[in-house]
Amino acid sequence: MKNPLIIGNWKLNGNINIIQKLIKNLINQLNKTIYCKVAIAPPIVYLPIVKNLLKKSKIEICSQNVDINISGSYTGDISARMLKDIGVKYIIIGHSERRIHHNESDELIALKFKITKSEQLIPIICIGETEEEYKNGNIEQSCIRQIDIILKKFDISSFKNTVIAYEPIWAIGTGNLPKPKQIQIIHHFIRNYISKFNLSVSKKIIIQYGGSVNINNALDLLSQPDVDGLLIGKDSMNINNFSKIINNIKN
Ligand code: PGA
Repeated sequence: MKNPLIIGNWKLNGNINIIQKLIKNLINQLNKTIYCKVAIAPPIVYLPIVKNLLKKSKIEICSQNVDINISGSYTGDISARMLKDIGVKYIIIGHSERRIHHNESDELIALKFKITKSEQLIPIICIGETEEEYKNGNIEQSCIRQIDIILKKFDISSFKNTVIAYEPIWAIGTGNLPKPKQIQIIHHFIRNYISKFNLSVSKKIIIQYGGSVNINNALDLLSQPDVDGLLIGKDSMNINNFSKIINNIKN
């Protein structure tokens, strides 16, 4: 049975007090044995605090962003090497909120992919269609375009130790999401597309789903054969729900 990857993306929320309480509650509420990998992506400034609070647990930390440079005169930026230095394992790149609010292009995302890999960290590449693409039936083309921008620049072997998060933009934070069976079709399509370049990479790559995942739909989503994990926004800050989602995952 799969060992899914569950990541909580806390976006731009919380403060020291709230974050300490959330992590303490999470540790208290999780079963002694859990059957999935878990990571938390707090706002970057709180990563060291979260890392410290999690030091006795197996939960990893994830960054919500990274710069394309390692060091130098880039005021305000944070590098992959620095994130590695403080114990980060995963870096979310290409999240639609960064594409929309910071005009991040596919090319910039490819550079973020490169720098993340160069520090042996695991990129979580977010891909997914807009509402318009969804309505026009262009889901597959949209996903391929976002995968190809990376595949054209880097060898398929760079997709080892890489996570793809399929996140339909219209599903993020809206409470509307495709039916689990429809999500399975897209995940299967993505895996099949990667298999054309390398079968073994396609079998091992983790394809997460994200967008309005909650306590009521998480297990249904994970029961789909090609859904290898979940990227959870809103419901990951509700620790009762987030820990139940994790505790419900059985071997
Ligand atoms: P949501 O966010 O679960 O609140 O829809 C998901 C995400 O943005 O990764």
